[in-house]
Amino acid sequence: MNILLIGSGGREHALAWAISASPLCDKLFIAPGNPGTAQCGENVVLDIADHRAVADFCRLMSVGLVVVGPEGPLVDGITDDLEAAGIKTFGPSRAAAQLEGSKAFTKELCAEFGIPTAGFARFTDEVAARAYVAKTGAPLVIKADGLAAGKGVVMAETIEQANEALAMMFSGGLGAAGAEVVIEEWMIGEEASFFALCDGTHALPLASAQDHKRAFDGDTGPNTGGMGAYSPAPVMTKAMEERVMTEIVGPTLAGMAQRGTPFKGVLFAGLMITAEGPKLIEYNVRFGDPECEVLMPRLKSDIVPALLAARDGVLNAVDLRWSADAALTVVMAAKGYPGTPEKGSVIRGIDKAATEKDVLVFHAGTRAKGEEIVADGGRVLNVVALGRSVSEAQAKAYAAVDLIDWPGGFCRRDIGWQAVKREREG
Ligand code: AMP
Ligand code: GLY
Repeated sequence: MNILLIGSGGREHALAWAISASPLCDKLFIAPGNPGTAQCGENVVLDIADHRAVADFCRLMSVGLVVVGPEGPLVDGITDDLEAAGIKTFGPSRAAAQLEGSKAFTKELCAEFGIPTAGFARFTDEVAARAYVAKTGAPLVIKADGLAAGKGVVMAETIEQANEALAMMFSGGLGAAGAEVVIEEWMIGEEASFFALCDGTHALPLASAQDHKRAFDGDTGPNTGGMGAYSPAPVMTKAMEERVMTEIVGPTLAGMAQRGTPFKGVLFAGLMITAEGPKLIEYNVRFGDPECEVLMPRLKSDIVPALLAARDGVLNAVDLRWSADAALTVVMAAKGYPGTPEKGSVIRGIDKAATEKDVLVFHAGTRAKGEEIVADGGRVLNVVALGRSVSEAQAKAYAAVDLIDWPGGFCRRDIGWQAVKREREG
């Protein structure tokens, strides 16, 4: 079968790596891809926003399955349009992608189906929102409703900070994403990400991960798309995973199906493990980036039959095997990220790092320039290592990072610190 993968980040390189290893995959196309995905298949130039053009390409190239990486095309309804054109597509419909596309949608679903999450209120008017803040008091979490590329969440420790965030969002500081604002209770606990494959009715647990959102060591600096991650998350024990499946993922699937918008694809639950149990922070409707880069190397089974079964609604027949090893990824970013990253600097030593034992290097924002690889975005490379513990994976990942010669880049030196501390304390 020929497969088309949509996207161009580290997540897509990891997916391309896993998909291209499948005996079921004849030819893999990636649109637009990056120099890393070019090693797993053929990068193609396609206007992803033009769903008809994507469908035409699929017919021309006998593509039997489309796998959508990022959320943008899903929220835009690429799955609906390709399926309507008779092309099997892995990923949720436009209606089901609202689980990520609208925070208010998800909060209402939680309220209707009893899914544990932070208490909340919704506002389209700044005066009413300020009155609520004054009445409730700080701390509070202020969120723009729509997709805001990770910039739509303000953790307000004081009433002044809450009001500042409201003023910024309602004055259009985040564009249309801020037209509606959700104000939430600030939950206390340890965060974890949990991934499940869904076919509209059944959910198959994948694995857990923890990421590092802040730009600099010690979890300081501005928020980013993620500077590193590791899997599994120590806080996600078997018992906790079962609670998440029964209390959160199960009711979500049942609720979405009951509303006539069944969810198919990857459900990525951002969780807070609180003293009362797991609570949902938010959903994403795709693999995480960089979480996917630590999930794929741990997956022992062929991913393609699982993706097909999720699309076909027969996931209950699928069983996936996972490595007991931990995986850890260090994101190497261009200097300036998450502000304005410097583009064009030359990166050397990627091949050397990638040939280290138990190490993989996934490309994100890179570009081939003649024989060289240059930086072409914010998050540029993912250096991933497997180990028997997070500590071992961390040591191998940083040893490989040190083989990469890139003066224009930087990375955090403490990815995995919580798990390493836990392992050290036994
Ligand atoms: P989100 O974009 O909703 O995932 O939020 C980004 C980050 O903000 C999360 O990963 C949490 O660290 C934090 N956060 C969001 N909502 C809450 C909440 N209600 N309580 C505590 N922390 C939160
Ligand atoms: N790493 C967080 C995300 O993919 O949304």
